[in-house]
Amino acid sequence: PSLDAIVNLHDFEAVAKGILPPKAWAYYSSASDDEITIRENRAAYQRIWFRPRVLRDVSVVDWSTTILGRRSSLPVYISATALGKLGHPDGELNLTRAAGKHGVIQMIPTLASCAFDEIIDAAVPGQVQFLQLYVNRDREITRKYVQHAEKRGVKGLFITVDAPQLGRREKDMRMKFVDESGVAKVQENQSGVKKDEGVARAISSFIDPSLSWKDIPWFKSITNMPIVLKGVATPEDALMAYDYGLAGIVLSNHGGRQLDTARSGVENLIEVVAALKTRGPWPNPKFEVFVDGGVRRASDVLKAIALGASAVGVGRAFMYSFCAYGQDGVEKAFQIFRDELEMNMRLLGARTIDDLTPDMVDANALHSH
Ligand code: FNR
Repeated sequence: PSLDAIVNLHDFEAVAKGILPPKAWAYYSSASDDEITIRENRAAYQRIWFRPRVLRDVSVVDWSTTILGRRSSLPVYISATALGKLGHPDGELNLTRAAGKHGVIQMIPTLASCAFDEIIDAAVPGQVQFLQLYVNRDREITRKYVQHAEKRGVKGLFITVDAPQLGRREKDMRMKFVDESGVAKVQENQSGVKKDEGVARAISSFIDPSLSWKDIPWFKSITNMPIVLKGVATPEDALMAYDYGLAGIVLSNHGGRQLDTARSGVENLIEVVAALKTRGPWPNPKFEVFVDGGVRRASDVLKAIALGASAVGVGRAFMYSFCAYGQDGVEKAFQIFRDELEMNMRLLGARTIDDLTPDMVDANALHSH
Protein backbone atom coordinates (compact mmCIF):
# COMPACT_ATOMS: atom_id res chain seq x y z
CA PRO A 1 0.00 0.00 0.00
CA SER A 2 1.04 3.59 -0.55
CA LEU A 3 2.18 5.62 2.41
CA ASP A 4 -1.01 7.70 2.14
CA ALA A 5 -2.99 4.61 3.07
CA ILE A 6 -1.22 4.36 6.44
CA VAL A 7 -3.39 5.94 9.13
CA ASN A 8 -1.92 4.60 12.35
CA LEU A 9 1.17 2.85 13.68
CA HIS A 10 -0.50 -0.56 13.65
CA ASP A 11 -0.71 -0.26 9.86
CA PHE A 12 3.09 -0.17 9.60
CA GLU A 13 3.29 -3.43 11.52
CA ALA A 14 0.86 -5.14 9.15
CA VAL A 15 2.78 -3.89 6.12
CA ALA A 16 6.13 -4.96 7.59
CA LYS A 17 4.78 -8.42 8.32
CA GLY A 18 3.67 -8.69 4.70
CA ILE A 19 6.92 -7.65 3.09
CA LEU A 20 9.72 -8.78 5.42
CA PRO A 21 11.50 -12.08 4.85
CA PRO A 22 10.17 -14.51 7.49
CA LYS A 23 13.48 -14.54 9.37
CA ALA A 24 13.59 -10.76 9.66
CA TRP A 25 9.96 -10.66 10.76
CA ALA A 26 10.72 -13.33 13.37
CA TYR A 27 13.69 -11.38 14.73
CA TYR A 28 11.83 -8.05 14.95
CA SER A 29 8.49 -9.27 16.22
CA SER A 30 9.48 -12.07 18.55
CA ALA A 31 9.52 -11.90 22.32
CA SER A 32 10.68 -14.39 24.92
CA ASP A 33 9.10 -17.68 26.02
CA ASP A 34 5.28 -17.52 25.98
CA GLU A 35 5.26 -13.85 24.90
CA ILE A 36 3.11 -12.83 27.86
CA THR A 37 5.08 -9.70 28.69
CA ILE A 38 4.91 -8.34 25.15
CA ARG A 39 1.13 -8.76 25.22
CA GLU A 40 0.97 -7.14 28.65
CA ASN A 41 2.93 -4.11 27.40
CA ARG A 42 -0.06 -3.24 25.19
CA ALA A 43 -2.71 -4.45 27.61
CA ALA A 44 -1.48 -2.35 30.54
CA TYR A 45 -2.12 0.89 28.64
CA GLN A 46 -5.64 -0.31 27.90
CA ARG A 47 -6.36 -0.59 31.63
CA ILE A 48 -5.53 3.07 32.20
CA TRP A 49 -8.42 5.46 31.64
CA PHE A 50 -8.41 9.19 31.05
CA ARG A 51 -10.02 11.80 33.30
CA PRO A 52 -10.31 14.60 30.73
CA ARG A 53 -10.77 18.24 31.78
CA VAL A 54 -12.91 20.63 29.79
CA LEU A 55 -13.10 24.37 29.01
CA ARG A 56 -9.37 24.96 29.11
CA ASP A 57 -8.80 26.89 25.85
CA VAL A 58 -6.94 24.29 23.88
CA SER A 59 -6.69 26.34 20.70
CA VAL A 60 -2.91 26.03 20.89
CA VAL A 61 -1.30 22.83 22.14
CA ASP A 62 2.43 22.13 22.37
CA TRP A 63 3.83 18.63 22.83
CA SER A 64 7.51 19.54 22.61
CA THR A 65 9.63 18.80 25.68
CA THR A 66 13.15 18.26 26.94
CA ILE A 67 14.81 14.88 27.43
CA LEU A 68 17.97 14.86 29.59
CA GLY A 69 18.04 18.62 29.12
CA ARG A 70 17.87 18.41 25.29
CA ARG A 71 15.02 19.77 23.19
CA SER A 72 12.78 17.21 21.58
CA SER A 73 9.91 18.02 19.23
CA LEU A 74 8.03 14.97 20.52
CA PRO A 75 7.69 13.51 24.03
CA VAL A 76 8.89 10.30 22.38
CA TYR A 77 12.40 9.12 21.52
CA ILE A 78 13.58 6.37 19.19
CA SER A 79 14.72 3.48 21.38
CA ALA A 80 17.64 1.30 20.35
CA THR A 81 16.73 -1.66 18.14
CA ALA A 82 19.46 -3.90 16.74
CA LEU A 83 20.04 -4.92 13.14
CA GLY A 84 18.09 -2.28 11.20
CA LYS A 85 19.36 -3.54 7.85
CA LEU A 86 17.24 -6.66 8.19
CA GLY A 87 14.27 -4.39 7.55
CA HIS A 88 15.63 -1.97 4.96
CA PRO A 89 18.97 -1.52 3.15
CA ASP A 90 19.57 1.87 4.82
CA GLY A 91 18.93 0.37 8.28
CA GLU A 92 19.32 2.80 11.19
CA LEU A 93 20.06 5.70 8.82
CA ASN A 94 16.35 5.89 8.03
CA LEU A 95 15.78 6.78 11.67
CA THR A 96 18.72 9.20 11.85
CA ARG A 97 17.65 11.16 8.78
CA ALA A 98 13.99 11.39 9.75
CA ALA A 99 14.90 12.29 13.32
CA GLY A 100 17.28 15.03 12.15
CA LYS A 101 14.61 16.57 9.95
CA HIS A 102 11.98 16.57 12.70
CA GLY A 103 13.93 17.24 15.90
CA VAL A 104 13.42 13.79 17.39
CA ILE A 105 16.10 12.10 19.52
CA GLN A 106 17.54 8.77 18.39
CA MET A 107 19.19 6.23 20.69
CA ILE A 108 21.90 4.49 18.65
CA PRO A 109 22.17 0.74 19.38
CA THR A 110 25.52 -0.92 20.13
CA LEU A 111 24.32 -3.63 17.75
CA ALA A 112 23.41 -1.29 14.89
CA SER A 113 23.86 -2.81 11.48
CA CYS A 114 25.31 0.47 10.18
CA ALA A 115 28.70 1.52 11.54
CA PHE A 116 28.52 3.88 14.51
CA ASP A 117 30.34 6.71 12.71
CA GLU A 118 28.09 6.36 9.69
CA ILE A 119 25.08 7.00 11.94
CA ILE A 120 26.77 10.00 13.53
CA ASP A 121 27.80 11.37 10.12
CA ALA A 122 24.19 11.15 8.88
CA ALA A 123 23.03 13.57 11.59
CA VAL A 124 22.45 17.25 10.87
CA PRO A 125 24.22 19.93 12.95
CA GLY A 126 22.69 20.17 16.41
CA GLN A 127 20.84 16.86 16.09
CA VAL A 128 20.72 15.06 19.44
CA GLN A 129 21.70 11.39 19.58
CA PHE A 130 22.07 9.07 22.56
CA LEU A 131 23.98 5.78 22.73
CA GLN A 132 22.65 2.45 23.97
CA LEU A 133 25.46 0.42 25.49
CA TYR A 134 25.95 -3.29 25.85
CA VAL A 135 28.94 -3.64 28.13
CA ASN A 136 31.78 -5.77 26.75
CA ARG A 137 33.63 -8.34 28.87
CA ASP A 138 36.69 -6.46 27.68
CA ARG A 139 36.20 -3.11 29.42
CA GLU A 140 38.87 -1.49 27.28
CA ILE A 141 36.61 -1.94 24.23
CA THR A 142 33.71 -0.42 26.13
CA ARG A 143 35.82 2.49 27.40
CA LYS A 144 37.01 3.34 23.89
CA TYR A 145 33.51 3.00 22.45
CA VAL A 146 31.95 5.27 25.08
CA GLN A 147 34.68 7.89 24.88
CA HIS A 148 34.59 7.86 21.08
CA ALA A 149 30.82 8.38 21.22
CA GLU A 150 31.18 11.32 23.59
CA LYS A 151 33.85 12.85 21.36
CA ARG A 152 31.50 12.47 18.39
CA GLY A 153 28.86 14.48 20.24
CA VAL A 154 26.56 11.84 21.73
CA LYS A 155 24.58 13.45 24.56
CA GLY A 156 23.49 10.55 26.76
CA LEU A 157 24.54 7.00 27.64
CA PHE A 158 21.85 4.35 28.13
CA ILE A 159 23.38 1.22 29.66
CA THR A 160 21.18 -1.81 29.04
CA VAL A 161 20.92 -3.73 32.31
CA ASP A 162 18.14 -6.24 31.56
CA ALA A 163 20.15 -8.46 29.23
CA PRO A 164 23.05 -10.24 31.01
CA GLN A 165 21.94 -13.11 28.79
CA LEU A 166 19.67 -12.80 25.79
CA GLY A 167 16.10 -14.04 26.27
CA ARG A 168 14.92 -17.12 24.38
CA ARG A 169 12.86 -15.79 21.51
CA GLU A 170 11.45 -19.04 20.25
CA LYS A 171 9.99 -17.82 16.96
CA ASP A 172 13.45 -16.54 16.15
CA MET A 173 15.15 -19.74 17.34
CA ARG A 174 12.97 -21.91 15.15
CA MET A 175 14.17 -19.90 12.15
CA LYS A 176 17.76 -20.90 12.96
CA PHE A 177 18.54 -17.30 12.45
CA VAL A 178 21.91 -16.51 10.93
CA ASP A 179 22.36 -13.06 9.47
CA GLU A 180 25.76 -12.70 7.88
CA SER A 181 25.63 -8.98 7.07
CA GLY A 182 24.31 -7.95 10.46
CA VAL A 183 26.79 -10.05 12.37
CA ALA A 184 29.68 -8.85 10.23
CA LYS A 185 28.91 -5.22 11.07
CA VAL A 186 28.43 -6.03 14.72
CA GLN A 187 31.84 -7.67 14.73
CA GLU A 188 33.32 -4.47 13.42
CA ASN A 189 31.87 -2.56 16.36
CA GLN A 190 32.53 -5.08 19.12
CA SER A 191 35.21 -7.70 18.82
CA GLY A 192 34.81 -11.01 20.58
CA VAL A 193 31.49 -12.07 19.05
CA LYS A 194 31.14 -15.65 17.88
CA LYS A 195 29.84 -15.80 14.35
CA ASP A 196 29.06 -19.49 14.06
CA GLU A 197 26.23 -19.85 16.59
CA GLY A 198 23.39 -17.89 14.99
CA VAL A 199 22.65 -14.24 15.55
CA ALA A 200 21.08 -14.30 18.99
CA ARG A 201 24.09 -16.06 20.51
CA ALA A 202 26.59 -14.26 18.31
CA ILE A 203 25.48 -10.78 19.19
CA SER A 204 25.15 -11.50 22.87
CA SER A 205 28.36 -13.41 23.48
CA PHE A 206 30.45 -10.29 24.18
CA ILE A 207 27.99 -8.93 26.76
CA ASP A 208 29.37 -9.12 30.30
CA PRO A 209 26.99 -10.92 32.69
CA SER A 210 29.22 -9.97 35.64
CA LEU A 211 28.19 -6.31 35.34
CA SER A 212 27.15 -4.97 38.74
CA TRP A 213 26.49 -1.81 40.75
CA LYS A 214 30.20 -1.81 41.63
CA ASP A 215 30.93 -0.88 38.01
CA ILE A 216 28.82 2.29 38.08
CA PRO A 217 31.55 4.58 39.48
CA TRP A 218 33.85 3.41 36.67
CA PHE A 219 31.29 4.44 34.03
CA LYS A 220 30.98 7.81 35.72
CA SER A 221 34.77 8.14 35.66
CA ILE A 222 35.11 7.53 31.92
CA THR A 223 32.41 9.89 30.63
CA ASN A 224 30.66 13.16 31.33
CA MET A 225 27.56 12.08 29.45
CA PRO A 226 24.47 11.66 31.62
CA ILE A 227 24.10 7.93 32.38
CA VAL A 228 20.71 6.22 32.34
CA LEU A 229 20.03 2.56 33.19
CA LYS A 230 17.79 0.95 30.57
CA GLY A 231 15.73 -1.97 31.80
CA VAL A 232 14.90 -1.20 35.44
CA ALA A 233 11.68 -2.69 36.85
CA THR A 234 11.47 -2.04 40.58
CA PRO A 235 11.47 0.85 43.08
CA GLU A 236 14.41 -0.86 44.83
CA ASP A 237 16.63 -0.55 41.75
CA ALA A 238 15.25 2.89 40.90
CA LEU A 239 16.40 4.14 44.31
CA MET A 240 19.80 2.47 43.85
CA ALA A 241 20.22 4.26 40.50
CA TYR A 242 19.23 7.52 42.15
CA ASP A 243 21.60 7.02 45.06
CA TYR A 244 24.46 6.17 42.70
CA GLY A 245 24.01 9.62 41.19
CA LEU A 246 22.83 8.47 37.78
CA ALA A 247 20.73 10.71 35.52
CA GLY A 248 17.75 8.40 35.19
CA ILE A 249 16.24 5.03 34.38
CA VAL A 250 14.15 3.47 31.65
CA LEU A 251 11.36 1.30 33.02
CA SER A 252 11.50 -1.33 30.33
CA ASN A 253 11.29 -5.05 29.78
CA HIS A 254 13.15 -4.83 26.46
CA GLY A 255 9.95 -5.05 24.43
CA GLY A 256 9.07 -8.35 26.11
CA ARG A 257 12.23 -9.96 24.75
CA GLN A 258 13.96 -10.72 28.06
CA LEU A 259 12.31 -11.99 31.27
CA ASP A 260 8.87 -13.22 30.31
CA THR A 261 6.05 -12.39 32.75
CA ALA A 262 7.97 -9.35 33.92
CA ARG A 263 5.45 -6.55 34.37
CA SER A 264 5.09 -3.69 31.90
CA GLY A 265 7.08 -0.50 32.35
CA VAL A 266 3.99 1.65 32.76
CA GLU A 267 2.65 -0.70 35.44
CA ASN A 268 5.89 -0.26 37.41
CA LEU A 269 5.89 3.50 36.94
CA ILE A 270 3.47 4.37 39.72
CA GLU A 271 5.37 2.64 42.51
CA VAL A 272 8.73 3.80 41.16
CA VAL A 273 7.65 7.44 41.17
CA ALA A 274 6.18 7.03 44.65
CA ALA A 275 9.53 5.67 45.89
CA LEU A 276 11.52 8.46 44.25
CA LYS A 277 9.28 11.05 45.90
CA THR A 278 10.72 9.89 49.24
CA ARG A 279 14.09 11.31 48.07
CA GLY A 280 12.77 14.81 47.34
CA PRO A 281 10.41 16.92 45.23
CA TRP A 282 9.05 15.38 42.03
CA PRO A 283 9.55 15.91 39.13
CA ASN A 284 13.25 16.05 39.85
CA PRO A 285 15.28 17.78 37.12
CA LYS A 286 18.34 15.71 38.12
CA PHE A 287 16.69 12.31 37.71
CA GLU A 288 14.35 11.34 34.89
CA VAL A 289 12.20 8.27 34.53
CA PHE A 290 11.46 6.98 31.04
CA VAL A 291 9.15 4.17 30.01
CA ASP A 292 9.14 1.96 26.94
CA GLY A 293 7.26 -1.06 25.65
CA GLY A 294 4.03 -1.38 23.70
CA VAL A 295 3.62 2.27 22.75
CA ARG A 296 1.54 2.54 19.57
CA ARG A 297 -0.66 5.57 20.26
CA ALA A 298 -0.19 9.12 21.48
CA SER A 299 -2.70 8.25 24.19
CA ASP A 300 -0.18 5.71 25.55
CA VAL A 301 2.46 8.43 25.65
CA LEU A 302 0.18 10.87 27.47
CA LYS A 303 -0.76 8.26 30.07
CA ALA A 304 2.87 7.48 30.90
CA ILE A 305 3.75 11.16 31.16
CA ALA A 306 0.73 11.90 33.33
CA LEU A 307 1.93 9.16 35.69
CA GLY A 308 5.40 10.74 35.96
CA ALA A 309 7.52 9.70 32.98
CA SER A 310 9.52 12.45 31.26
CA ALA A 311 9.24 10.82 27.86
CA VAL A 312 8.52 7.48 26.28
CA GLY A 313 10.69 5.20 24.13
CA VAL A 314 9.41 3.52 20.99
CA GLY A 315 11.13 0.51 19.43
CA ARG A 316 9.14 -1.65 17.05
CA ALA A 317 6.71 0.99 15.77
CA PHE A 318 9.59 3.03 14.33
CA MET A 319 11.38 -0.07 13.02
CA TYR A 320 8.27 -1.25 11.23
CA SER A 321 7.75 2.22 9.76
CA PHE A 322 10.95 2.08 7.68
CA CYS A 323 10.70 -1.52 6.42
CA ALA A 324 8.54 -0.72 3.40
CA TYR A 325 8.97 3.04 3.14
CA GLY A 326 12.46 3.93 4.37
CA GLN A 327 12.93 7.43 5.79
CA ASP A 328 9.50 8.55 4.50
CA GLY A 329 7.85 5.92 6.65
CA VAL A 330 9.60 7.16 9.79
CA GLU A 331 8.58 10.74 8.97
CA LYS A 332 5.01 9.55 8.55
CA ALA A 333 5.20 7.81 11.94
CA PHE A 334 6.27 11.14 13.50
CA GLN A 335 3.35 12.86 11.72
CA ILE A 336 0.93 10.27 13.11
CA PHE A 337 2.26 10.93 16.62
CA ARG A 338 1.86 14.69 16.10
CA ASP A 339 -1.71 14.36 14.81
CA GLU A 340 -2.69 12.03 17.62
CA LEU A 341 -0.96 14.16 20.27
CA GLU A 342 -2.75 17.28 19.06
CA MET A 343 -6.16 15.64 19.16
CA ASN A 344 -5.64 13.75 22.42
CA MET A 345 -4.17 16.74 24.27
CA ARG A 346 -7.12 18.91 23.17
CA LEU A 347 -9.65 16.30 24.25
CA LEU A 348 -7.81 15.74 27.52
CA GLY A 349 -7.54 19.45 28.30
CA ALA A 350 -3.72 19.59 28.35
CA ARG A 351 -2.03 22.45 26.49
CA THR A 352 1.54 21.45 27.27
CA ILE A 353 3.44 18.43 28.48
CA ASP A 354 3.69 20.09 31.91
CA ASP A 355 -0.13 20.18 32.07
CA LEU A 356 -0.18 16.36 32.22
CA THR A 357 -0.74 15.41 35.85
CA PRO A 358 -1.63 12.16 37.63
CA ASP A 359 -5.23 13.31 38.19
CA MET A 360 -5.77 13.17 34.41
CA VAL A 361 -5.66 9.38 34.46
CA ASP A 362 -7.50 6.70 36.38
CA ALA A 363 -4.98 3.91 36.91
CA ASN A 364 -7.04 2.03 39.51
CA ALA A 365 -7.64 -0.86 37.13
CA LEU A 366 -3.94 -1.19 36.32
CA HIS A 367 -3.20 -3.79 38.97
CA SER A 368 -6.52 -5.64 38.87
CA HIS A 369 -7.43 -7.68 35.83
C1 FNR B 1 15.17 -4.21 20.83
N1 FNR B 1 15.54 -3.58 22.02
C2 FNR B 1 16.88 -3.40 22.30
N2 FNR B 1 17.26 -2.79 23.45
C3 FNR B 1 18.56 -2.59 23.73
O1 FNR B 1 18.88 -2.03 24.78
N3 FNR B 1 19.53 -3.00 22.86
C4 FNR B 1 19.23 -3.62 21.69
O2 FNR B 1 20.10 -3.99 20.90
C5 FNR B 1 17.85 -3.84 21.37
N4 FNR B 1 17.49 -4.46 20.23
C6 FNR B 1 16.16 -4.64 19.92
C7 FNR B 1 15.81 -5.26 18.74
C8 FNR B 1 14.47 -5.41 18.40
C9 FNR B 1 14.11 -6.06 17.09
C10 FNR B 1 13.47 -4.96 19.29
C11 FNR B 1 12.02 -5.10 18.96
C12 FNR B 1 13.82 -4.37 20.49
C13 FNR B 1 14.52 -3.09 22.98
C14 FNR B 1 14.10 -1.66 22.64
O3 FNR B 1 15.12 -0.74 22.91
C15 FNR B 1 12.87 -1.24 23.49
O4 FNR B 1 13.14 -1.47 24.85
C16 FNR B 1 11.61 -1.99 23.07
O5 FNR B 1 11.61 -2.23 21.70
C17 FNR B 1 10.38 -1.23 23.46
O6 FNR B 1 9.22 -1.93 23.13
P1 FNR B 1 8.40 -1.73 21.77
O7 FNR B 1 8.32 -0.24 21.51
O8 FNR B 1 9.15 -2.45 20.71
O9 FNR B 1 7.09 -2.34 22.08
